[in-house]
Amino acid sequence: MFIHAFEGSWFDHPFWRSYFRVETREQLSRIRSSGIDGLVIDAARGLAPRADPQASADGAKSPRSKPPPASERPWGDAMSFRSTPTFAPPAPRDTPRRRRGHATECRRARKVIDRTREAVVDMFAAARLGRAVEVRRMVTLARSIGASIERDSKALINLVRLKDKDEYTYLHSVAVCALMINFARHLELDPQEVEDMGVAGLLHDVGKVAISDEILNKPGALSKGEMRSVRSHPVAGHRLLASSPGAPDTALELCLRHHEKIDGTGYPDGLAGDALSLAARMGAICDVYDAVTSNRPYKDAWTPCEALTRMGQWAGHFDAVLLDRFADSLGIFPVGTLVRLSTGELGVVIGSADDAPENIVVRAFFDCETLAEMAPIERIVSPAMEHPRIVGRDSPSFWRFADWDALRFRIMSGADTSAAASDGEPPIGPRGADQ
Ligand SMILES: [Fe+2]
Repeated sequence: MFIHAFEGSWFDHPFWRSYFRVETREQLSRIRSSGIDGLVIDAARGLAPRADPQASADGAKSPRSKPPPASERPWGDAMSFRSTPTFAPPAPRDTPRRRRGHATECRRARKVIDRTREAVVDMFAAARLGRAVEVRRMVTLARSIGASIERDSKALINLVRLKDKDEYTYLHSVAVCALMINFARHLELDPQEVEDMGVAGLLHDVGKVAISDEILNKPGALSKGEMRSVRSHPVAGHRLLASSPGAPDTALELCLRHHEKIDGTGYPDGLAGDALSLAARMGAICDVYDAVTSNRPYKDAWTPCEALTRMGQWAGHFDAVLLDRFADSLGIFPVGTLVRLSTGELGVVIGSADDAPENIVVRAFFDCETLAEMAPIERIVSPAMEHPRIVGRDSPSFWRFADWDALRFRIMSGADTSAAASDGEPPIGPRGADQ
């Protein structure tokens, strides 16, 4: 049988892919012993459940719509199933499909961003006068941002990345809030933690009120004294939040620690490794990602793909495992990553599209259905599109590519990898196909 999808969470089933042909008894027993309780099969690509002769004779039901008696079910008794007539077939590979409701959510998200930016401007103005932060207002706004992300995780995050240089400080807080919420949801933190992470994102740079605009917007290198002033903002912000009623502990923590680095070379205290909380490690990633993907007074923006590629190369700066999870949360991957596409192909991330920095170019080279290499073809993946989209990372070892680095190099350099297969190289295919 050809499995089209598993029901429930992707994490509950033991396979890298949710669509493949069941060809071995071991695959079958892995499915049976997994936590899933249902799957969808594609009867057009494999065996259909055997028909119930009575139902067929009656003409009362389609032969494929009724499961066979338990004694004839190769997938076991406990598992329900749906066969092809109950789901829409996958879109043809080359028919792009827009994300439903994306344009509407972009309009809603714009309003949420504007409202939140105004509140952040007010917060900074009040802080300059030595007043406490109005935490309750920030909680309400963080909830609105969370609701937008829940409806469509791409809309608000893409919009808030685009900012003018002169509004960077305020919109940066909104962006870090959105990135923290999206990241925390991806890590499946509980709802209160997700909200606290969002509030922490809004408040994390409030200590910048202690730095003059002249220094904040200076295009050139900073003097030692100016650098000292910049480096004082985590402690200044922490002090302000500590005297603001209702500020969540996560916000105090993020404010103080978002410039620490995993190797202990950050500030204010040079904490390293396990001494850094989850909020501190997540915040360091979100803070830098938004900073480098924004136009700032002293630097032009990198594209999201370029940013994640470069951040992955900064040894000792971030928690490397969390940085990968952050990329997963955005669905944006560093150059050279092997990814699965909604077209049923494997591809390598090549970079950003020239005309639209938020779009990613993936060079597809392998067909997961036929298990064969194909002539490379470039797929443009846009946040506005449902199809094609990146389904997730994939594992070169799962697919048993004989020499992944060499194969990746050939794909990225534009060579026709399909010729390599006929060059006497070992065949490739997924683990499990011959188990
Ligand atoms: Fe900061």
